[in-house]
Amino acid sequence: MARKIVITSGKGGVGKTTVAVNLGRCLAALGERTVIADTDFGLNNADVVCGAEERVLFGMTDVIEGRCRARQALLPLEDSANLFLLAAGKTYERPLSPQAVRLVLDSLAPRFDYILIDSPAGIEGGFHRACAAADEAIVVTTPHISSLRDADKVVAVLKSYRLKSVELVVNMVRGDMVADGEVLSPNEIAGLLKVPLLGVLPQEDGVFLGERRRSSEGQRAFRMLAANIAKGTRRLYNPTGRYRGFFGSIRRSLKKSL
Ligand SMILES: Nc1ncnc2c1ncn2[C@@H]1O[C@H](COP(=O)(O)OP(=O)(O)OP(=O)(O)O)[C@@H](O)[C@H]1O
Ligand SMILES: [Mg+2]
Repeated sequence: MARKIVITSGKGGVGKTTVAVNLGRCLAALGERTVIADTDFGLNNADVVCGAEERVLFGMTDVIEGRCRARQALLPLEDSANLFLLAAGKTYERPLSPQAVRLVLDSLAPRFDYILIDSPAGIEGGFHRACAAADEAIVVTTPHISSLRDADKVVAVLKSYRLKSVELVVNMVRGDMVADGEVLSPNEIAGLLKVPLLGVLPQEDGVFLGERRRSSEGQRAFRMLAANIAKGTRRLYNPTGRYRGFFGSIRRSLKKSL
């Protein structure tokens, strides 16, 4: 039976979809049968981030409104035989209820190990639909103050859902800024929000758009996150590693002068 994990944040643009898609890829690479379910019915874009937008025929709204079965709406992704996308769907005629979304995901759960639910920004109806279908939550934040404030609100709201766990991923971390004390470290952020730290992801251009350089720092950080989820390890990517010592201080100065 699949673990249903909602990826949420409150604030928009902090990397929910990026995390859902890249985490899905890493879980699938570990042999876990994984569905990435896009529940952002307004500004859905998981299909684009997966590079599959031209192949999407059906989505969740089509299942809910009876135009196809859940299995027909699952799009196999080229990355791995274990990875599928359930796109949001292009149109819907009636308001979508949280129960309807939950029913669709529950119908898929017996045949998968993970269903990653990509939530829309905000804490209104769309957020509720995404969270009501989940058993666990990952809150994504960046180190920026506005993102932290929204993450704090989301953590408080998530307490009213019966979730087995609520954990934190700090995304877009700049190791040079952490090393210089210009932003809070991921551990300090987790301490402030009082949520266990599950993953740390560096700010990294390009790699999240599907280039998938296996050797990149970002991909290494994602593999650690996937192992923490699937194998129960607790390894965290160290964003400051590259910025310590003699060569590290040169890298720091170079990054600052960019
Ligand atoms: N670690 C990162 N390093 C660099 N860029 C990133 C990183 N994570 C996400 N991004 C970029 O930030 C932008 C927003 O990411 P994404 O769409 O995943 O956020 P989101 O939280 O899903 O947004 P929305 O709230 O609109 O759904 C994208 O252009 C994405 O490529
Ligand atoms: Mg998104």
